[in-house]
Amino acid sequence: MKTYKIGSLPGDGIGPEVAQEGLKALALVAELEDFRYELVDYPFSGAYYLKTKELVTDAVLDEWRTLDAVLLGAIGHPDVEPGLVERSVILGLRFGLDMYINLRPIKLYSEHLCPLKNKKPEDLDIVVVRENTEGMYSQIGGHLKKGTPDEVALVNGVYTWKGCERAIRYAFEIAAKRGAARGAADRKPQVTLVDKDNAIRPHDIWDRAFAQVAKEFPAIATDHAYVDACCMWMVKNPEWFDVIVTTNLFGDIITDLGAMLQGGMGIAASGNIHPGRTSMFEPIHGSAPKHAGKNVACPLGMISAVAMMLDFLGETKAAARVEGAVAELLGSGAIPSADTRSGISTSQMGDMVVAEIRKAAR
Ligand code: IPM
Ligand code: MG
Repeated sequence: MKTYKIGSLPGDGIGPEVAQEGLKALALVAELEDFRYELVDYPFSGAYYLKTKELVTDAVLDEWRTLDAVLLGAIGHPDVEPGLVERSVILGLRFGLDMYINLRPIKLYSEHLCPLKNKKPEDLDIVVVRENTEGMYSQIGGHLKKGTPDEVALVNGVYTWKGCERAIRYAFEIAAKRGAARGAADRKPQVTLVDKDNAIRPHDIWDRAFAQVAKEFPAIATDHAYVDACCMWMVKNPEWFDVIVTTNLFGDIITDLGAMLQGGMGIAASGNIHPGRTSMFEPIHGSAPKHAGKNVACPLGMISAVAMMLDFLGETKAAARVEGAVAELLGSGAIPSADTRSGISTSQMGDMVVAEIRKAAR
């Protein structure tokens, strides 16, 4: 029997609290589906940096390459320079291990969770494929004459043909899979390219790569939206979207909007994926320092990230058990909201998920 090697990076703030609940669900489904895993703990976080001044080194990145997957809680500490540890750990993993896809499902589990009027679960079921290693996150740039009235700040948006093409191809493959799962009677699978190539002309590399890849998938419908319009349509007619493929920065922004549409930052999960290699799974929320240590954060994003990891590892039955429990608890109203106002503590909610998985297994 294979033993998965899983890196555990609980991080800062509410990260450790939600991570613990994710691990509870993982332990149970491993028992039910009879697979083994070994957790390798990593201390990297803002709090750890304040104590030790340690960030992620190349040696650590090499070690991470030997893992099957990494589970990350959240990174970010109010007393550390903004972004320093996030860039080292989160972007360190994404860039260092070439996790070129950031897969972010936006799925409404129950009508009552959605802030939009009259939108039902079938109206909000989108998968965002966010390019995860380039764009405005390239880190190529810097300052000239910093701190003077003549200061110049520059950053380069980097878009490579390879980077665009592989993200787009992944999006089409996901759309094909989703279409097959829905069946021929349902609507045709669709991929929407989201960019801003009217104002940012070099974004047309995305259009050209999209047109080329689309030819390989004649059964999949295609669409295009500028990112500003995409935000508008996501609120007005989210049912128009199936799979969205977009740049690193735009994917970051539209998935916070998407999280709110599905019920809050506490529910959204993501996978940082390099097919066939070490991949990292995390909730999309941050460390939320104001909620830390209070046992009030919603762990469902983290628990859903565990489900995404299981799916990636090929443990699809285990993944379905976890996702099914989350869907059932939210759908039935047993968990009334996916935020700090649910009236259910972090650990209680984790226990409810575990109990639901057990109940469904009987
Ligand atoms: C996310 C986060 C990160 C990002 C930050 C913490 C660097 O917002 O995962 O969405 O911008 O990608
Ligand atoms: Mg973000």
